[in-house]
Amino acid sequence: MFITLEGIDGSGKSTQAGLLTERLKKRFPRRSVLRTREPGGWEGGGWIRERILEGEYLHPMSELLLFLVDRCEHVRRQILPVLDAGGIVICERYSDSTMAYQSWGRGIPAERVSLLIDWCGLPSPDVTFWLDLPVRTALERLGSRGGADRFESEGEPFLERVRAGFASMADENPGRFIRSDATASPEVVSSSLFALLEESGYL
Ligand code: TYD
Repeated sequence: MFITLEGIDGSGKSTQAGLLTERLKKRFPRRSVLRTREPGGWEGGGWIRERILEGEYLHPMSELLLFLVDRCEHVRRQILPVLDAGGIVICERYSDSTMAYQSWGRGIPAERVSLLIDWCGLPSPDVTFWLDLPVRTALERLGSRGGADRFESEGEPFLERVRAGFASMADENPGRFIRSDATASPEVVSSSLFALLEESGYL
């Protein structure tokens, strides 16, 4: 089973990935459960992650292509071996982030981004949890965390476009995309994600 967590910066994906991993490990003690993230979720990926987040490449296509290189290696080295062995993968961010940030945020035409994603021939998630919250709330959370990265410091209009991108993808993929209200407490959000997995027949 392949689960992805999506949402704007500050939506609580890491907290939810951790809680979901613990719950799934308890429920399936014999299955391997991998928690991972993009960009940089594989050995060697830290280098690409730093290059992207430090903004070393200026052309939006360079940024897009770097995310895709990172994803191909991540899938090949980390994700596929676990899925092929019948395990569970929980990944923070995946191709929907590329559509939301590089197309909706940066303005690269959607057909081009989606064509390049398709060309990579990577597996699709079974379930995508979109942790949704207002941009203002996310920025307040990030403000208290400090040290904004390249995308966090793009500002409110950029993150509003990214959020609109997630909303549009949720409309287009109702079977896979599940919107979850990320303004609630971490425990409440976590219980609702787990309940949604059970109700949808994934567990
Ligand atoms: P990260 O520190 O991992 O942020 P977060 O904890 O919010 O996931 O930084 C990843 C940044 O990269 C994040 O701002 C979103 C961006 N991103 C893209 O623009 N495109 C992508 O395809 C991916 C995977 C991430």
